[in-house]
Amino acid sequence: MKLILRKLTYGISAAARRGTLICGLAAFSMLVTGGALAAGTGKVKKNPNYPQIEFPPQFNAKGELLQPVDFREWIFLGSPLTPHGLNNGKSNFPEFHNVYVQPSAFKAYRATGKWPEGTILLKELQLVKGPSEFPDGSRFETSGRGYFPGAVNGMDVAVKDSKRFAETKNWGYFNFNHSAPPYLKSAAVRPVGECAGCHIANADEDMVYVNLYKPILTPLPRP
Ligand code: HEC
Repeated sequence: MKLILRKLTYGISAAARRGTLICGLAAFSMLVTGGALAAGTGKVKKNPNYPQIEFPPQFNAKGELLQPVDFREWIFLGSPLTPHGLNNGKSNFPEFHNVYVQPSAFKAYRATGKWPEGTILLKELQLVKGPSEFPDGSRFETSGRGYFPGAVNGMDVAVKDSKRFAETKNWGYFNFNHSAPPYLKSAAVRPVGECAGCHIANADEDMVYVNLYKPILTPLPRP
């Protein structure tokens, strides 16, 4: 009887131990896959130059900006549109200008009214969907006549770094092509006359046309 009891307790504790082991293994594998997933969405290491930013800008040895990874998972700020049909048939940027920012920079701006070091504002261009049914380029969808999103067609990027871009009011401007993807792997900073100059002369605040994004930057009132 004693022996049976001992066997029984051993059996229970072994099972319990196995249970703990299985739980432990499950937790461990969750940690590993969780880590891999996080790496998959980010693939960007934190950078001490930009302590507030979870997806910091990355530069190669030549000082070129690497194409930001998975920016479509960031915060979408808005989508100005300047179609051909409203610009005498010839707009320089006839696409939707889809603007994204890292979640950490978005939160920092909401909290402080300032874009932190390492902020990336990324504008991906998205053509108006065709075929157009009217001379102004518009067409019908079930919701009505208008302009609807089509193929993506280019990428412009602004990075805030007061050391690298002190001469252009702390922001550097990069073009990763104005054509269908794949966009460039890396891009050199554009000369002031090509990008920064117009932002210096015309932007609402700290080089950014922030008034266009205010409706989304403003927290939604709770009911
Ligand atoms: C003639 C003026 C002008 C020039 C030149 C210009 N921009 Fe802009 N940019 C704007 C305006 C106006 C907006 C906001 C409205 C819009 O997108 O149509 C804007 C928006 C942006 C945004 C979104 C964030 C923001 O500041 O609102 C980025 C990123 C950007 N531009 C990058 C560039 C790059 C890169 C270049 C050079 C290749 C460039 N810009 C050249 C006027 C200009």
